[in-house]
Amino acid sequence: MKTEITKLLGIEYPIIQGGMAWVAEYHLAAAVSNAGGLGLIGAASAPAKWVREQIQEAKKLTDKPFGVNIMLMSPYADDVAKVVVEEGVKVVTTGAGSPEKYMKMWKEAGVKVIPVVASVALAKRMERCGADALVAEGTEAGGHIGENTTMVLVPQVVDAVSIPVIAAGGIADGRGVAAAFMLGARGVQLGTHFVVTKESIVHENYKDRIIKAKDIDSRVTGRTAGHPVRALRNEMTKKYLELENKGAGFEELEQLTLGGLRKAVVEGDVKNGSVMAGQSAAMVKEKLSCKELIEKLVRETDTLIKGVGLYE
Ligand SMILES: Cc1cc2nc3c(=O)[nH]c(=O)nc-3n(C[C@H](O)[C@H](O)[C@H](O)COP(=O)(O)O)c2cc1C
Repeated sequence: MKTEITKLLGIEYPIIQGGMAWVAEYHLAAAVSNAGGLGLIGAASAPAKWVREQIQEAKKLTDKPFGVNIMLMSPYADDVAKVVVEEGVKVVTTGAGSPEKYMKMWKEAGVKVIPVVASVALAKRMERCGADALVAEGTEAGGHIGENTTMVLVPQVVDAVSIPVIAAGGIADGRGVAAAFMLGARGVQLGTHFVVTKESIVHENYKDRIIKAKDIDSRVTGRTAGHPVRALRNEMTKKYLELENKGAGFEELEQLTLGGLRKAVVEGDVKNGSVMAGQSAAMVKEKLSCKELIEKLVRETDTLIKGVGLYE
């Protein structure tokens, strides 16, 4: 499965495990990279010291390339940006803003930079500032989202830029991977399905909630505040949406979600915590190892589109 993405990143399969706050730590990232994909450590709002330790632990478990996802609104973003260079990390994906101010430093260090975008305008801007590839993430995804679906966003981004595009949002099996290739993507990024893998350190309650999820279980909170987040419905989303409908202010709403992802991931509180997951949760039926999941995706995709000429 050779594409511009496997060549750019030096990996076997163009399958990326999305950086996920609290979820994407070094065990998961190393397992994905060892299985031939690209594992990412999610730096989220964590201090640079934690990120450095995570990178060093991942290096002990894999000699394959792996990356770090940097949330640019993090108060520690400047320090994390330096840590990835000092630790010789090969790939950085970025979210929540523009990484322009770090571009020169990263390029000089040979770091491949892949911003996550949810619009054509941001995609074009990222290409102009030197991005090596893009993740075009549709609104089906778990966590913080934009409004375009993967189906409409990916072809528009592919048409707007000349760097390779990785599709994310709503992909959970080989049909999704094949569809993404047909839309012009040259790689895929999955988050939700990796949450339930055997190597993921996420609480079993969280994994079970994803496995049991139905098609109608997804909710988006925070649209009124301009920061939509997709999670599985529970007491927290119910209260949040009731308050939002009543016109509650940002501070009152934030009280409900503060520390919510940690509560669900670490403590297993799937009633009051934030069980972030994409719409694809309803398609995730089993807890596989990262290797089993990646091999399944490759096998299914090959069966559907091998020979069509989209990858070698
Ligand atoms: C629990 C969870 C946390 C996430 N946290 C982040 C994050 O910190 N940074 C980021 O860029 N994307 C984050 N994402 C998005 C994923 O990296 C990925 O793009 C997305 O999950 C892909 O769509 P899918 O959920 O349909 O597979 C998160 C997703 C989930 C499910």
